[in-house]
Order: sequence, then C-alpha cells, then structure tokens
Amino acid sequence: MQPLSASAPGKIILFGEHAVVHGQPAIAVPLAAVQVTVCAEPAPPGTGTVIHAPDVDQTRFIKPGTGESADTPDPLYNALVYPVKLALSVCDQPVPDLALTVRSTIPIASGLGSGAALAAALIRATTAALDHPLDNDALNPLVYEVEKRHHGTPSGIDNTVIVYERPVFFVRGTPPEPFTITRPFSLVVGDTGHSSPTRLTVSDVRSLVDAEPDRVGALFEQIGALVHAARTAIESGTIETLGPLMNTNHALLQELTVSSGQLDRLCEAARRAGALGAKLSGGGRGGNMIALTQPDDIPAVAQALRAAGAVRVIHTTVG
Ligand code: MEV
Repeated sequence: MQPLSASAPGKIILFGEHAVVHGQPAIAVPLAAVQVTVCAEPAPPGTGTVIHAPDVDQTRFIKPGTGESADTPDPLYNALVYPVKLALSVCDQPVPDLALTVRSTIPIASGLGSGAALAAALIRATTAALDHPLDNDALNPLVYEVEKRHHGTPSGIDNTVIVYERPVFFVRGTPPEPFTITRPFSLVVGDTGHSSPTRLTVSDVRSLVDAEPDRVGALFEQIGALVHAARTAIESGTIETLGPLMNTNHALLQELTVSSGQLDRLCEAARRAGALGAKLSGGGRGGNMIALTQPDDIPAVAQALRAAGAVRVIHTTVG
C-alpha cells in the first residue's frame, strides 16, 4: 500500500444540546478550523496494527489474532483501538501490518466533537488502507457505535455533522436534514480549558429528568422551540435574532445544571464586549462556549474572552 491520510473536522452545536438526547431537534455545524488527521503506512511484517497518538503520548497495538473484547471502561481503548477494530470487521480482514499515526487539534472532552472526529478519521484511514474505502452513509453508523462507547446514549448529532461535514438540523432517530445558511455569520469560540466528559453531563441530565420529569420536560420543549426559531432565522438570513435565542438557550442549559462558573463568565464577557449572544456549546460544565459576533467586534470579543480566562479562542465563519 501507499501511505495515505484521512481527516475529520470538529463540530459546534449552535442550539439544542442535551434536549436533542431526549427527542428535541438541534442544529450543528462542522468546525473545519480544528481537525483530526490519521496517516496510515505499511508496518514491518508481523507487527500487527500500531496506533500512535504522539499528542497524548500513547501507543496502542492490535496484535494479529486478537479478538474484540467486551465493553471496556478504558477510554483510550474506546477512542483509539475500537474504531480500528470496527473498520477491520467491516472490511472482513485479519489484523494488517499497519502503522496509524493520529494528530489532532481538537481539544479532548471539550464539546467540539473530538471523539467522533477521531473515530471518523481512524475508520476512514484504516478502510482506505485496506482498499475498502467507505462512503459517508456507511461510515456514519460505525462512528455512532464508537460514540455509544464514549457517551452511553448519544443522540447521534456529533457523528452526523462530523461525518457529512455540513450543517444539520437533527432529530434523534431520523435522517439529518441539511438546511441552507442564507447569510454567513461569525462565531468566536472560547475554550474554558477544563475538560468535561459528555457521558457525565448526559447522565446527570437523565437523572434530572427522572427526578422532575414535568419541569425538565418543559425545559426541553422550550429548547426545542428555540431551535425551530433559530432554523427560521438562519434560513431567512435574520442573523441578529439568533443572539437573544443563544442567550435564552444558555439560560435553559444553566437550569439543566450543565453550565459552570467559567462558562457563565466567558458568555458574560463576550456579551459585554459586543457579542450579539453567547452560550455554552456541547456537553457543558467545561469545554467551549460560542459567541455570535459582528465581524467588526471580533477582536474585542476575542480579547475579552482571553482576559476572562479562555485558554484558546477561535474565530470561525458559518456558511
Ligand atoms: C454533545 O456534543 C451533545 C449532547 O447533546 C449529547 C448528544 O447529543 O449525544 C450533549
């Protein structure tokens, strides 16, 4: 085989995280500014498959003849080895002599889809190396399988937006609806620097539903209504109206207990510096927030986020 590489982008949830796990719609867009890239090269005969992730100083091996083990609590196994094993089983191939090197600029457990992007890039690289490249319709369910290992009960939005690399209006269990972004808009993304596994926040929200089904169900419905309003605004190009919708979505996520002091501070700092609206994005309790920002205000909002403690600030244009 010739050496090859495959990649997958990060993602941003614009509206509807958490409620989407419970049947409400959500809107997400790919974030091409951050990526996972996997290089595949032949390895010496008898090596098996080596997965090397220098960014996190980890190497994992799949030796020839090793079978799939039962569900494992080891997050690195789930992240690095499991996607490759799924790819091998789809190709119906024995463990090949293959070296996979993973590079990622997506911060881990920070709401930007690192797990789904890693799985997508690993499966793309492995299947391409075995001369069995998958189209996105075949790849998406495999990445969803990996997501289940990470999150337990994922809605499927992360794998869908990352695999298809286009904006989606998503309802769990139904095919993603692509939709049109009539007027591009700018987001400033601020990273709290605190990682927060989505598995935990999703599980805490589920406990909240069990404890107070009526109150939490009403919060989900309010989030769902916001998502529909946001879709209308994006499709009609009335971008300014998205700002207040983001602020309200953030307040509802606070009620779901998935914000944090630092996320609240970053959102507040962005609004004070001129952002039209701001909210946490993804699983919450850490990770990233997004601020809808007019192009002229981007430097001030970025500066305010850094001053409020953001460890990384990215600017991206959606659409
Ligand atoms: C995580 O990016 C989004 C959540 O809604 C979980 C999910 O949809 O699986 C928190």
